[in-house]
Amino acid sequence: MILFRHGVASADPLPDGVLLWTRCTTDSAGPIHVDWWVSRSPAPEPAQLVARGTAEASAARDFTVHVDAGGLEPATTYWYGFRAGDVSSPVGRTRTAPAPDGPAGHLRVGLASCSYWSCGFFNAYANLATRDLDLVVHVGDYIYENDHVSPTRRAVRAHRPAGRVVTLEGYRARYAQYRTDPDLQALHASHPVVAVWDDHELVGDAWRGGAGAHSTARHGKWEDRRDAAVQAYFEWMPVRRPGRESVFRTVRLGALADLVMLDTRLVGRDRPAGGGGRPVVRAEGERSLLGEDQWRWLEAEISSSTARWLLIGNQVMLAPLALFGVAGGLGVNPSQWDGYPGERRRLYDLLRRTGWASNVAVLSGDIHSSWAAELPVGAEFVSPSVTSDSFARTVLPRLPGVSAAVRRWFMWQNRHLRLGDLQHHGYVTVDVGPDRVQGDTWHVETITRRDPAERWAGGWVLHDGELGLAPAPAPASAELSRR
Ligand SMILES: [Fe+2]
Repeated sequence: MILFRHGVASADPLPDGVLLWTRCTTDSAGPIHVDWWVSRSPAPEPAQLVARGTAEASAARDFTVHVDAGGLEPATTYWYGFRAGDVSSPVGRTRTAPAPDGPAGHLRVGLASCSYWSCGFFNAYANLATRDLDLVVHVGDYIYENDHVSPTRRAVRAHRPAGRVVTLEGYRARYAQYRTDPDLQALHASHPVVAVWDDHELVGDAWRGGAGAHSTARHGKWEDRRDAAVQAYFEWMPVRRPGRESVFRTVRLGALADLVMLDTRLVGRDRPAGGGGRPVVRAEGERSLLGEDQWRWLEAEISSSTARWLLIGNQVMLAPLALFGVAGGLGVNPSQWDGYPGERRRLYDLLRRTGWASNVAVLSGDIHSSWAAELPVGAEFVSPSVTSDSFARTVLPRLPGVSAAVRRWFMWQNRHLRLGDLQHHGYVTVDVGPDRVQGDTWHVETITRRDPAERWAGGWVLHDGELGLAPAPAPASAELSRR
């Protein structure tokens, strides 16, 4: 008996294609032939079929299936599914990218990061699934390899198997559990996702030569664990492999935007100041974050771009979260770009030199808190966590007595910040039009039960050719439902 227990997914849209994913649950040891289809309608009616084929699921890739479906039309919604024997998968919906020479149009992008199973329910994913979006950018911490929640609360639901994962089988089992979540399945079945890893798909506080949470004595050789995590990632995540052992790649979204996804974790990151485990460390400027290969690639990608907007998907926050003023160089988290100030200067220099002195929107996560920040070249929208313990829970207990006055003082020290919320869980929607980009932050009311209640925590607008963020009077989606 073959089952499609882990749902379906699509990813990395092109103007004429999209990557499709599923997994077979089977007792069979041998390869399984899986038929796939893409249709203009939710059912694979012969008159509506536009592509079909057969793929193979085998134990070597944990019975996951990746299909690069081609021959599709740009900026078009399709449905897809799989069939093995007489068993059909759930049906997914996806959308191709706009044509490069088409009208500028409009794009709606979801942004999410940091979903920790034990911390609660993925209401943010459920809400993203029901929104009218072209694609969802996931900037990592899609799974967590470790197994703990903050001492201030109990786990809402348990990781199974419990404990930290170290081996290939462990990482596979962790993805398999997360993919049984109905809200995560709904997200994947509703929109194409463009995902990159952050540290927890690998190991907490990962850098290119190790990880803060990895001990050779207890967990074995770093290279073995890294390779296991990378293998499981490329099996279980719908990602069009860029032909290198990394995830940095470009998704071109027509005349309106190019989406550049970075890898700030594995290929170029030097060990952070203080090892990454300690907050509030003065960082020196000479640490590497992207690595020379990725810098060369990035320069080629963005200097050849003719799009109106440059979207940069990036794991860790680019804008400073500074103590005692931005010029002081003392950040609250040495794992983000604050810990790599030379690399941040290099990025701004590269952007300006390649024609991107404005119209850049950076999409980030990792820090389990919500931020909207003005950058010297545009703006940054930082998504809160889907469920992972909020910054308020993990850091503020170490800084006793933090009050509203301290918060005001912090925001005054960081006058580039327009939104700062340390508490809530949720996601961001980014609305991209020819004249403006609006980032809206959405906070869910709870993560301790499945409940879609949410509220708009504010929106900020970046105008074409300008710097600075203007407050939005209403969420962009209200306007856009009339397009
Ligand atoms: Fe995280």
